[in-house]
Amino acid sequence: MSTNLTKRDFAKVAGAAAFGMTTGAPLAGRAQTSAESGTKPVQGATFPDGFSWGVATSAFQIEGAVREDGRGASIWDSYAHTPGKIRNGDNADVANDHYHRYKDDVRLMQDMGVKSYRFSIAWPRIFPNGVGQPNPKGLDFYRRLVDALLEAGIEPFPTLYHWDLPQALQDKGGWQSRDTAKAFADYAGYIAGQLSDRVTRFFTINEFFSFVDIGHRGAEMTVDGKKVRIEHAPGLKLSNAKLNQVRHNAVLAQGLSVQAIRANAKAGTKCGPADNLSTAVPAIETPENIKAAEIATREMNAGYLTVILEGKYTDSYLAAAGKGAPKFTEDELKIISSPVDFIGINIYRPSVYVVASERAPGFRPIPFNKSHPRMLSLWHLLGPEAMYWAPRQVQSLWKTKEIYITENGCAASDELSAEGIVDDSDRVMFLRNHLAHLHRATAEGVPIKGYFHWSLMDNFEWSEGFATRFGLVYVDFKTQKRTPKLSAAYFREAIAKNAVV
Ligand code: FCB
Repeated sequence: MSTNLTKRDFAKVAGAAAFGMTTGAPLAGRAQTSAESGTKPVQGATFPDGFSWGVATSAFQIEGAVREDGRGASIWDSYAHTPGKIRNGDNADVANDHYHRYKDDVRLMQDMGVKSYRFSIAWPRIFPNGVGQPNPKGLDFYRRLVDALLEAGIEPFPTLYHWDLPQALQDKGGWQSRDTAKAFADYAGYIAGQLSDRVTRFFTINEFFSFVDIGHRGAEMTVDGKKVRIEHAPGLKLSNAKLNQVRHNAVLAQGLSVQAIRANAKAGTKCGPADNLSTAVPAIETPENIKAAEIATREMNAGYLTVILEGKYTDSYLAAAGKGAPKFTEDELKIISSPVDFIGINIYRPSVYVVASERAPGFRPIPFNKSHPRMLSLWHLLGPEAMYWAPRQVQSLWKTKEIYITENGCAASDELSAEGIVDDSDRVMFLRNHLAHLHRATAEGVPIKGYFHWSLMDNFEWSEGFATRFGLVYVDFKTQKRTPKLSAAYFREAIAKNAVV
């Protein structure tokens, strides 16, 4: 068959690999880029000038040093140490040891040419008990990190809440209590006051659904005919009514934190959430289906982005919740919808494909069939079109002026070869496809200002522990050695050309 390699082709490929000519060689050691060899970006697919190319991580997943310099415990410490909760019994006590190795990690980013870095601040390092006296040593770590980034010419984009709630607050009801929303705002205001001399953009809260629904109810999905349950800390199974109230407290925290940031930060400081918007993709691009997908996206996000950006719960959200609807006041809705400067969206996959339907609510979901391709994580069905539709829908539904893709990436079965190379061609394929769809959106004028790849390096992937690797850089967790993968070389090339390559 024509797809089979001839013997001569095979010898060429094998020969090239033996001489280390695949792009899997460590970044610093690579001599030639495609700019020198003269290839052009895919169909001239360049991104707007000043497009912010970045990588993302979060505190709990990389820092380690969980008992150092006065850090308090978080719900993820407790959860990870509960037997049976994390795959292979892993925990994040050391993780990537980033707390001590942050300078090396900044250098890795510099080698890749990234322009921006999205990391998170651990609330329990700043307020070990969630509220009360701040811990200066905790803040000092982030000051040093931010300074190292600025020195390297990398813009810091801190996220204030990436799920590591101080355990002391969980002991008082956690997100089930309205007081936690208030405590979050106080912490957010404090950080903004302390860091806005050197940080311009803050993300408030990461992925509402993931810590609220998955943390307080758990989610079930069917994979290869088997039911799989996904859980996050604190690992509760609340009733509908209680879960809806937790959702409400979380969006209230969003609004209160925006107000606190505005009250405490230097003028010109910007903020917005980083949400994993559920995205409906039109199965076939007709005007009717495109409209239907927009309706579906607005409804699927009713408890989070929709209420944040519209200042009210949709009628169908409240009707579906019935007696379990959240209790709220008009005043709270105003707080929740405090104007934000940008929206961050984490895009991994479409939630659903839809076509238009005559029947209410106006769309018909198309189930993923059994042979739908996916990446290594069980939840990770492939659908790069979401990278085009999600930002486009955010702009058309809510007239958003600034959008960041705050996460996108995939786990692959990366293996370090005996020569010290990780040839993750699957991740390169994933990246190229997603960037092509992202480019489709920027080329149409959707105001996307930047893209953060999840993740800079392999790290503690929540309940999956270290078993699923999302990094552009491979991490040997025994030695902490970092090895850039083939995908890091690809990403560096895309950044250098500001284009899909
Ligand atoms: C997102 C999380 C992030 C990481 C990726 C794979 O849901 O925000 O921390 O775990 O998934």
